[in-house]
Amino acid sequence: MNNLQNKENLTILAIESSCDETACAILRDGKILGECISTQIEIHRLYGGVVPEIASRNHVLSIDAVVKDALNKSGLNKEDIDCIAVTKGAGLLGSLLVGVSYAKGLAFALGKPLIGINHIRGHIAANYIEHPELTPPYVGLIVSGGHSAVALVNSKTHLEIKGTTADDACGEAFDKVARVLGLPYPGGPEIEKLAKEGTPCIPMPKVKMKNPLDFSYSGLKTAVINYVHNASQKGEEINKADVACSFQKSAVEMLAEHAVLLANQENVKSIAIAGGVAANGALREAVESKAEPFGIKVYYPSKRLCTDNASMIASEAYVQIRSGAEFSSLDLDAHATLSLITDC
Ligand code: KG4
Ligand code: ZN
Repeated sequence: MNNLQNKENLTILAIESSCDETACAILRDGKILGECISTQIEIHRLYGGVVPEIASRNHVLSIDAVVKDALNKSGLNKEDIDCIAVTKGAGLLGSLLVGVSYAKGLAFALGKPLIGINHIRGHIAANYIEHPELTPPYVGLIVSGGHSAVALVNSKTHLEIKGTTADDACGEAFDKVARVLGLPYPGGPEIEKLAKEGTPCIPMPKVKMKNPLDFSYSGLKTAVINYVHNASQKGEEINKADVACSFQKSAVEMLAEHAVLLANQENVKSIAIAGGVAANGALREAVESKAEPFGIKVYYPSKRLCTDNASMIASEAYVQIRSGAEFSSLDLDAHATLSLITDC
């Protein structure tokens, strides 16, 4: 129970700093009033990936300006905010701590409640911002840099993981394959761009898991690495666009097949895609084309809401508060890892 559960015009200011984006958003009753994202991509690109220490320092530099900008855009004052939400995990600990400390300070100064939010739950809740008609039960296809899972979402606050990755997450595989092809960080969007110029002509291994809903990306990633290394040892030129296209097709088909399999098993008629990889056009098309014959509707957030942002954190905070979740205390801690099921 919390004292805002039934409040009209529930206004939430959310902060996200789990990786390399410093973000703030203000949502009223689940609708965006103002948002700001400061990305560090250009900085980390120099190193081929996120350098945690540099990420934390840059969050410290930008967070105050990001919050002020989001507030300005919303047209509200700090006093109009009902609750401060913040990503408590999973993510880079030093980066999370910047957001959590700032949020605690703001909540204390304003005398407003604080709520710590699970980042991956936030990715799922990004769907509710633009698709208020999306109601459980539905299948959640969760694909980010650290997660690949299919889940049965029974209610907005309860889900059951039915399939997960045995090794690498899907986004991680995109990033590693991109690196082998000499593409800049972050690899996912670069693979997608390059794949448009190629054809899926290179055979990729198909993995069979004991649980048909589980994923494995390590075999697929290794197949690409071996293909590239073998060609380079023989002094042969490879067509990078064909490699990107073949890898991407194989990666997204596995996700699409599992999501549709679960929807049919559970007899649900909606699938929602969430996480950074949900921005991938080939994934969206693959899920839609496999779902369509069964009359299953596919939802995904617009691209800017797929990758890390604070609106999704506010959206999940809105779900939690409306369902009566307890607020967090000022002892709220940051966590590098969190369970999708139990750590809400
Ligand atoms: O959700 P996210 O922004 O951060 C985590 O919570 O992990 O996901 C980042 C991941 C990265 O691996 C990135 O390469 C991937 O999402 N990604 C994409 C695309 N945009 C981002 N993967 C494939 N295609 C894209 N367009
Ligand atoms: Zn994320």
